[in-house]
Amino acid sequence: MSYNTFGRHFRITTFGESHGPALGVVIDGIPPNLAVDPGNIRKWMDRRRPGGSTVSSSRRERDGIQVLSGMLDGRTTGAPICLLLFNEDARPQDYDHLKRVFRPGHADFTWQGKYGLRDWRGGGRSSGRETAARVAAGAVAGQLLAGQGVGILGHVVEIAGIRARNFDPRVIGTNPLCCADASAVGRMEEAIETARAAGDSVGGVVELRASGVPLGWGDPVFGKLDAMLAGALMGIGAVKAVEIGDGFRAARARGSQNNDAILPGGFASNHCGGILGGISNGETIVVRLAVKPTPSIAREQQTVDLAGLPVTVSVRGRHDPCIAPRLVPVAEAMCALVLADAWLGQLMVAVPSEGFSTGGMSRVDPCEFPSGNGSHRRSGPFLRQAHPRNHLK
Ligand SMILES: Cc1cc2nc3c(=O)[nH]c(=O)nc-3n(C[C@H](O)[C@H](O)[C@H](O)COP(=O)(O)O)c2cc1C
Repeated sequence: MSYNTFGRHFRITTFGESHGPALGVVIDGIPPNLAVDPGNIRKWMDRRRPGGSTVSSSRRERDGIQVLSGMLDGRTTGAPICLLLFNEDARPQDYDHLKRVFRPGHADFTWQGKYGLRDWRGGGRSSGRETAARVAAGAVAGQLLAGQGVGILGHVVEIAGIRARNFDPRVIGTNPLCCADASAVGRMEEAIETARAAGDSVGGVVELRASGVPLGWGDPVFGKLDAMLAGALMGIGAVKAVEIGDGFRAARARGSQNNDAILPGGFASNHCGGILGGISNGETIVVRLAVKPTPSIAREQQTVDLAGLPVTVSVRGRHDPCIAPRLVPVAEAMCALVLADAWLGQLMVAVPSEGFSTGGMSRVDPCEFPSGNGSHRRSGPFLRQAHPRNHLK
């Protein structure tokens, strides 16, 4: 099976199954002598961990990370970093009754069709559990980006059609839904509970804001930053659409409304979501992800078994009735991996911008990283270019 490796410069390979003994990630391509705090990886893992609230799965995992290689005295050595975490609350026996049955909305049917077998123990590699390894790697990428003044803030903007109207980043870490609008949280929780009581589930929308990304990250043609982000985020289970900037709304606007006017002091608006021609323009990168309702539901559904015979299935057990909140740190991690990769890629572009001044155009608006505590620092406008000399601090 191919494609367990992601990234060009900052490369990760994840391994392990949902109900196997362990999961992990090998990170390669990371420069030496960069500070990485394992305590910070812990914080990221805690935010992704299930069992933390009534709206998430009751699977209890400590997600204690073991750093097996690539680090010395809190710094990277340049060798591959291997991070390992054990599955302590795996219960493969819970899935015995699903050995011969395809769960609707899951990868069961397609894996069986493609490989002639599948890991029936909670989906194996296609389980949301695999994302724990991505989050561990994303935590490392995030720390490197923080050293470059880049912060990534994820939050839930919609659940079951109920939209967040306000944005107060301090609120995100105070509720289990990772929502920045305190007035929407209660209604969202109610909608989740109502669906759960009916043996059903709901979907939602997650927004990412990456601030402090300087002008110039991303490559034209096949390495466009928006394409990389879309691919990385669509690669998360249950994500069905990705929107950059105004996204689908741009299709309904006029050019005069959608273009971001360029003024001597910066862009007048940010409809493009911080990316033009696949290259960051110095504005905050804004991305939204549509997350489908949890496919495992208690309500009876029609399906078939291995022999193709019709059966009804009710998927009980430890499932998130809404995946969107748990997806926030995973989305932040994938975004961090793409941006760390783009940063390393830019280090190879050693062309000084002669005759071109960014003037006041590259507004940088760093926010606290990771977004767990929700605080958002505005540091005011300042100039920064993508030139490599400005990168390694
Ligand atoms: C962090 C995370 C947690 C998830 N938790 C669950 C869950 O508890 N129950 C479930 O049925 N699906 C869960 N999923 C979604 C499934 O893994 C996913 O929908 C399924 O593998 C099919 O893939 P697709 O939706 O990308 O087509 C989760 C996904 C992620 C990223």
